[in-house]
Amino acid sequence: MYLSHLSLPTCTRSAALFQGKLVQNSSTASKERGVGMFIRRRYMRTVCLTKVPRNANLEKLQNGYLFPEISRHEFEHVQKYPNVKLISLGVGDTTEPIPDIITLDMAAHSRALSTVGGYRGYGAEQGNKELRKAIAETLYPDVHIKDTEVFVSDGAQCDISRIQLLLGPNVTMAVQDPSFPGYVDTSVIMGRSGNFQEENGKYGKIEYMKCGPENNFFPDLSNTPRTDIIFFISPNNPTGYAASRDQLEKLVKFAKKNGSIIIYDSAYAAYISDDSPRSIFEIPGAREVAIEISSFSKFAGFTGVRLGWTVVPEELEFSNGFPVINDFNRVVCTCFNGASSIAQAGGLACLSPEGYKGIRGVIDFYKENMKILLETFQSLGLKVYGGKNAPYIWVHFPGSSSWDVFAKILEKTHIITIPGTGFGPNGEEYIRVSAFGNRNSILEASERLTNLLK
Ligand SMILES: Cc1ncc(COP(=O)(O)O)c(C=O)c1O
Repeated sequence: MYLSHLSLPTCTRSAALFQGKLVQNSSTASKERGVGMFIRRRYMRTVCLTKVPRNANLEKLQNGYLFPEISRHEFEHVQKYPNVKLISLGVGDTTEPIPDIITLDMAAHSRALSTVGGYRGYGAEQGNKELRKAIAETLYPDVHIKDTEVFVSDGAQCDISRIQLLLGPNVTMAVQDPSFPGYVDTSVIMGRSGNFQEENGKYGKIEYMKCGPENNFFPDLSNTPRTDIIFFISPNNPTGYAASRDQLEKLVKFAKKNGSIIIYDSAYAAYISDDSPRSIFEIPGAREVAIEISSFSKFAGFTGVRLGWTVVPEELEFSNGFPVINDFNRVVCTCFNGASSIAQAGGLACLSPEGYKGIRGVIDFYKENMKILLETFQSLGLKVYGGKNAPYIWVHFPGSSSWDVFAKILEKTHIITIPGTGFGPNGEEYIRVSAFGNRNSILEASERLTNLLK
């Protein structure tokens, strides 16, 4: 037993530290690399190495994935201050119970699996037909999505990876900056990027499209080079900004002119309060240039249940005329075997009239939280964005490092937020604040932040 002289917690800690390498600025980066090398040497002495080379693409990644990194800070803070009540406005996990009209259906489905008549094994890889139909009809009422174009998944994050498998390493890509980190990180893992460039906080060969208040959170397309793929999230995580119809029309036109494919992420569409489009397919011509990824996570509190979907229109084709939907179907059949039937029963219940009403009530609750937090930061004289069409608030601290603001808020108020640079270099000077939380925590967070920042 190679590890026999190490106690299990030590091994586990070494592994966690390996993954927990954090790059905050270049001096910390070299310090962290030193720590990494030290652990590596220690690790090498204590385990028997294989002859298998590490995946060079994974080696390019600079930090652990953002959200586990934030959870690690949270854990360390609780160790340091065991008696304080930590409030998390960080990773953006939902907190409110799922309406029981939905969980009762999941429970009934689950119980039926214990009966001869109700037992079911594998389902269709693309998802239960009834659910695909319900998604197409309920969530895309005016845009004529066919049920066969809807692929049910175990969550948007998993479909981001399957989309990467679909596209492969050789396409060029652009991404909003800032943006949900899953897009850049999976692109690096896929082998599509160059190395990380410490001087600008970007990976080579990825086009970062700056989106901030100066351009109304929409990239300057006149200065954006053509790429094969454009990853675009609306409402955006982290900025909370939902692209307007006019902006999306420009994006579709740009993709058409360049022969690009837009991978559109609408995970927060249910939070839109104004007339911004809920789907890219509301834009004429989008069916020929876009795929849409979405999720039940923030829509129905299914972050733990795991359910999402992706729409691939029949008209979308590769440069050789091959339908993209056929290849996506091949990826889904080969690399996935369909979402859990229990989760799909829950998804179907969400889209029933009563279920939908129930989840809208929960969304409205989070929206009220957003209002409280938005007003808190505004009353402190800070510039605040988002908070209207997404459960995130993007707060500007001019001249400050986003990691410093994160650390100061954590140390002084015991509140977890997310430093803006976790979402891309253009997130510097910002933090993201999530509106998921129970009401007492949100009110208490508002009070603590006011005391710190007034
Ligand atoms: C924009 C965006 N896409 C995808 C995901 C992942 O969602 P899921 O829980 O469905 O995997 C998230 C999660 O926060 C997100 O913010």
